[in-house]
Amino acid sequence: MRNQMNELFVWILMLLINSVSGASGKQYTSAVGDPGMRRDELRVAFEAWNFCNEVGAEAPGMGSPRAADCFDLRGSSLEHRIRKIDNKLGVGTPFPGLSPVALNNADLYAAHKELYLGSLCEVEDFPKPWQFWMVMLKNGNFDTMSGLCPANGAKIPPFRSESFPCFGKGCMNQPTFSHSETALLDGNILRGGFSGTYDLGSDPNNGLDGISYYEVVWEKKVGAGSWVFKHKLKTSKKYPWLMLYLRADATRGFSGGYRYDTRGMLKTHPESPNFKVKLNLDIKKGGGPKSQFYLIDIGSCWKNNGLPCNGDVLTDVTRYNEMIINPETPAWCSPTGLVNCPPYHITPDDRKIYRNDTANFPYSAYHYYCAPGNAQHLEHPVSLCDPYSNPQAQEIVQLLPHPIWADYGYPTKQGVGWIGDGRSWELDVGGLSSRLYFYQDPGTTPATRVWTSIDVGTEIFVSDEDEEAEWILSNFDVLLT
Ligand SMILES: *[C@@H]1O[C@H](CO)[C@@H](O)[C@H](O)[C@H]1NC(C)=O
Repeated sequence: MRNQMNELFVWILMLLINSVSGASGKQYTSAVGDPGMRRDELRVAFEAWNFCNEVGAEAPGMGSPRAADCFDLRGSSLEHRIRKIDNKLGVGTPFPGLSPVALNNADLYAAHKELYLGSLCEVEDFPKPWQFWMVMLKNGNFDTMSGLCPANGAKIPPFRSESFPCFGKGCMNQPTFSHSETALLDGNILRGGFSGTYDLGSDPNNGLDGISYYEVVWEKKVGAGSWVFKHKLKTSKKYPWLMLYLRADATRGFSGGYRYDTRGMLKTHPESPNFKVKLNLDIKKGGGPKSQFYLIDIGSCWKNNGLPCNGDVLTDVTRYNEMIINPETPAWCSPTGLVNCPPYHITPDDRKIYRNDTANFPYSAYHYYCAPGNAQHLEHPVSLCDPYSNPQAQEIVQLLPHPIWADYGYPTKQGVGWIGDGRSWELDVGGLSSRLYFYQDPGTTPATRVWTSIDVGTEIFVSDEDEEAEWILSNFDVLLT
């Protein structure tokens, strides 16, 4: 009994500590381990994915593409929890907790390495411990002759196709990885970073002409303000489709698009409609006309019958919702392009507007909708999502700035929040995501919309020229309302 009383007391105390006062004076609880990115003792990790969110093969000499930078402060000195040899770990080298089947399998090895790095970075907290922010980098090249990617989760043999970028054998490679360990500079500035290129054999220090590049530098004044994450992403002829995001992922379970147990920052899984996302975003370079900059991308996983995912890739379906703020992104959804629209739109007062209602449907609020390839009862016309780029089938709802999103605090017109218009956002992501169409089998109980990944960044989608994007993210928080 006494122990239970103690537990209750600690529980209440943690609840109080975890509550911060929202703008409206209402009490909010943060879903992330580091609310507003204000904690000096940073926890950040890195993961690189191939076209279907796996590793495939490690880049020579780089180890498995999972790494982290986590430290504690002892006075003015940094005690790093991750050693260089931890970040360098690669297939064939054992580490604590690694299962024998994963030792020589690059995909499984990376998934286990993430758990291992997580165990080193973990911070005790309520209701669950948490591990790190996640920098995610993805190479969109797909060698259809490699046999590396499934179709809607089903293993398929190699096939010939001209539909995907690939310069030839090896185009799905992992990048080089260079780590500038966080250090204290000038007595009160903490700074560190990750960077590299997909163009193996080239050195970004000799200039970026003709090569791909990624960089995330984090910086913070000790004891004040937020961490500031400065991102750079550059495509090249050989790597025309790249993605770079900063993610708050679930600390347990499958986070969006990933079929292995993950580690992350979301110690509570936010559920629609009861959460908001706060952040500051300052975009310096857009990344060209094909850069689908996501002022919030949310990912989850549930089955077409509404049940949560359980790791069965044939029936699990990744669900994404993304607001694209590049004003050069057109609405593919239109009165003459119903195939690119969801079947209906739901207004803030819960009215359904069907896409054939040309007088009322907000076509220009939707860039593109695509349905899961394994759905059995789709309304036609319909566009199916790319079956290869996730470990399982996926469904994507992509939005564009439009006045109808005003109720949720999302951008209401093209250009808002874009280059030169850096601002802070308070997005009612929970409210909006509760009123989006997602496919479900007829007669099944609606899925609980729990989001296991919330991220910001850009996807430069098959650019014709070398393109560069640059942006700064800070003050990121997920508030349970
Ligand atoms: C519009 O679409 C809905 C749902 O598919 C359908 O029930 C309705 O008959 C359609 N209306 C017209 C005028 O085609």
